[in-house]
Amino acid sequence: MKKVIKGGKIATATDVFEADILIEEGVITQIAKSIDVADAEVIDATGKYVMPGGIDPHTHLDMPFNNTVTDDDWESGTIAAAFGGTTTILDFCLSAGETKLADAVAKWHEKAKDKAVIDYGFHLMITDFTPETEKELPTILKQEGITSIKVFMAYAREFQSSDRTLFKAFKIGKETDTVVMVHCENGSVIDELVEEALANGNTEPIYHALTRPAAVEGEATKRAIELANIAGAKLYVVHVTCKEAVDEIIRAREKGYDVLGETCPPYLTLDQSMLAQPDFEGAKYVWSPPLRPAYHQEVLWNALKAKQLQTIGSDQCSFSFNGKKQLGINDFSKIPNGGPFIEDRFGILYSEGVAKGRITVNEFVDMISTSAAKTFGLFPKKGTIAVGSDADVVLFDPDVKRVISAETHHMNVDYNPYEGWEVAGEVQTVLVRGEYVVKEKKFVGTLGSGQYIKRKPNSKLTEQLALN
Ligand code: URP
Ligand code: ZN
Ligand code: ZN
Repeated sequence: MKKVIKGGKIATATDVFEADILIEEGVITQIAKSIDVADAEVIDATGKYVMPGGIDPHTHLDMPFNNTVTDDDWESGTIAAAFGGTTTILDFCLSAGETKLADAVAKWHEKAKDKAVIDYGFHLMITDFTPETEKELPTILKQEGITSIKVFMAYAREFQSSDRTLFKAFKIGKETDTVVMVHCENGSVIDELVEEALANGNTEPIYHALTRPAAVEGEATKRAIELANIAGAKLYVVHVTCKEAVDEIIRAREKGYDVLGETCPPYLTLDQSMLAQPDFEGAKYVWSPPLRPAYHQEVLWNALKAKQLQTIGSDQCSFSFNGKKQLGINDFSKIPNGGPFIEDRFGILYSEGVAKGRITVNEFVDMISTSAAKTFGLFPKKGTIAVGSDADVVLFDPDVKRVISAETHHMNVDYNPYEGWEVAGEVQTVLVRGEYVVKEKKFVGTLGSGQYIKRKPNSKLTEQLALN
């Protein structure tokens, strides 16, 4: 059925204006001062922002990791995402342990297909190459419409790649016009520091942060930048947390290197002291890279504002406190790394960013949606409100105040790192390709309705972001 969204304030990455939107067959077909169509359902958006749905470029749903599996799967994870204003996610497809990359991708399709309630794509994770997978990679990227791969410089026991593998990935990235995403921490140095801490009897969660200092992130970021540049590849640094890494990214961009960067809500809003809480509470805040001393937050906000960092990922990777986090009760290095953020990424960035005057609403839309769409080959199908774009739309009331709590969130975990935070603004209605997924704060979506998106590289758009 046709829908008209009436009377709202449309916010894109560049404009804010009052207009109506006509949606037909899942696509925006008209934007005008006043639209009246006899056979259309009218959605009243008076007093609300009408924004493009959030695009979360960094999620780990139903992913085996740290001797366990993340607690949110494609059902709870995408429902929570929708409640939080996100209409597309790009999830990391694990290929470690598979002899064929095609099998890894098939496995990820299987996990998602009957569960996802929002649209999605995959980044393909690479840990090592065999001659076969090295040959297969360009083909599978093309076949599956995957425009991004991911390499880890940390997590020796699971995903860490050698510099040679990293460099090969950059070379293939260059040849295939694929964005290479890198987790930048020096894993070998971290492992040595972890061993030393444990040998000294230091087992509490705070040692997770103390054994992964900002310098190891800065060093790895610089190494990734230089190796990517030698290969001529596009580098996207995931979850940037600190001044050391931001400085390297700024330096590289000033030299004209093709480097983009992402940060995540917790690094902008929480700090290292959270890990020092007694009674193992600090384990709720264990993820990698770790939270930093508070002064890094301003560095990150400034880098976002200056477009030195472009995107906000949730790095959703949830483990319940009374369940899986307990694996590390006697040894911080066994606490599964990750936190639940898919639902609050949008709301926290709006409240801490726009409502507190740090960023404009246009910058917000850019960071939460448009830049990711441009970087990962989704734009202009996704990431904006424009004629011809998918009708992925969020109705957001900026005047509502609400309190975040694990009791009311939709993620499948028993805690929320923002428990008790009062935030400004509320996602009320969410449409994906013109269909309601959340209607006036109630879930009305259908499991399996989310579509896999085959993407196409778009060098022009990523270059524009790199040059900004
Ligand atoms: O601790 C984290 N971030 N867990 C997810 C894996 C990763 O490093 O992105
Ligand atoms: Zn990572
Ligand atoms: Zn991650």
